[in-house]
Amino acid sequence: MRILVTGGAGFIGSNFIRHLLATESACHIVNLDKLTYAGNLENLTDVERDPRYRFVKGSICNVQLVDELLKEGFDALINFAAESHVDRSIQDARAFVETNVLGTQIILEACRRHQVPRMVQVSTDEVYGSLGSFGRFTEESSLRPNSPYAASKAAADLLVAAYFRTYGLPVIVTRSSNNYGPYQFPEKVIPLFITNALADEPLPLYGDGLHVRDWLHVQDHCAALALILKNGVSGEIYNIGGHCERANIDVARLILSTLGKPVTLITRVKDRLGHDRRYALDTSKLEQALGWQPRRAFETGLKETVGWYGGHVTWWTRIKAGQYREYYRQTYGDLSCVSP
Ligand code: NAD
Ligand code: DAU
Repeated sequence: MRILVTGGAGFIGSNFIRHLLATESACHIVNLDKLTYAGNLENLTDVERDPRYRFVKGSICNVQLVDELLKEGFDALINFAAESHVDRSIQDARAFVETNVLGTQIILEACRRHQVPRMVQVSTDEVYGSLGSFGRFTEESSLRPNSPYAASKAAADLLVAAYFRTYGLPVIVTRSSNNYGPYQFPEKVIPLFITNALADEPLPLYGDGLHVRDWLHVQDHCAALALILKNGVSGEIYNIGGHCERANIDVARLILSTLGKPVTLITRVKDRLGHDRRYALDTSKLEQALGWQPRRAFETGLKETVGWYGGHVTWWTRIKAGQYREYYRQTYGDLSCVSP
């Protein structure tokens, strides 16, 4: 099976490539990635010499490049390429519209032209918007995105649906909850808190810290995606969630206790604008149709993840010392508390 992976040098994409190479001996993967601040070839050093893997640097917004690549002939394309951080979308949404919306349309059009038999769009639970204390989103729930990031992902989902209905393009949308695990860029809350705690620096907790996310280990996500790529039904949407809701304050406390660091490192900072209160997914469709289940308990997965960051200090210190430093300074300032 020849697969074009777009955005494969980021967090989930690189874990997915590693998963496929480990589980599918007959697969051949081309990874097209622009290498934005979030793309990192160090995420794939262990597979870069595998003869079944090839990296191409470029953007999904480059019509000619995408067209040339698809001429090579692929059995499937899976699109991870995106601007993925909510806070950055609040600061400046333009790149989100370019890559997440226009880039997806360029991919869809190229898949149509070259009759790619399967396209999987990796989307997010954030397209459904925010929940109160009760209930879960199903695949039938309305799209009510709140952040510019979520709106751009919802727009892409609608384009995918339009290409299915209008042209019969064999496409699938997956909507996953929050991922965590190795190689996650340290702007996202779990690696940010782990790496700050390792360095005895404050953990910036937004607002009251009671916002809830449903945590899914990235390897469970990758297993679901591989299954969907193989056996999913065209035109369908699949929710992928971890059944593991945790308030941010509890995640922060668990990281600190795992590392034996004091809770006084938790520093309450100004809340995110339009901060979604809670996400939760009903995943019964995927479980019943394809027999998938998340395997890692959060406490085990988080402990392993803390261990991974502890063992890969060079990987994250290089990132934190690079261009990310300016973003961190702009976003968190001097980390002054809003309340004790
Ligand atoms: P990430 O930011 O770690 O990686 C994104 C990758 O896309 C990077 O390698 C980057 O270089 C690449 N990229 C960006 N713009 C590109 C372009 N124009 N052309 C080619 N490559 C480009 O993101 P992630 O956390 O790995 O997320 C991957 C996908 O999964 C995204 O579509 C995201 O919306 C979705 N998702 C993420 C999560 C999560 O918790 N991280 C949850 C649900 C869904
Ligand atoms: O739900 C899936 C989504 O999960 C993906 O689509 C996104 O690509 C991914 O970034 C993630 O979005 P979130 O906004 O939920 O993740 P983030 O790690 O940015 O924040 C998780 C929670 O932690 C959220 O309630 C905000 C809070 N937070 C975050 C940061 C960065 C803090 O309290 N402090 C912080 O410094």
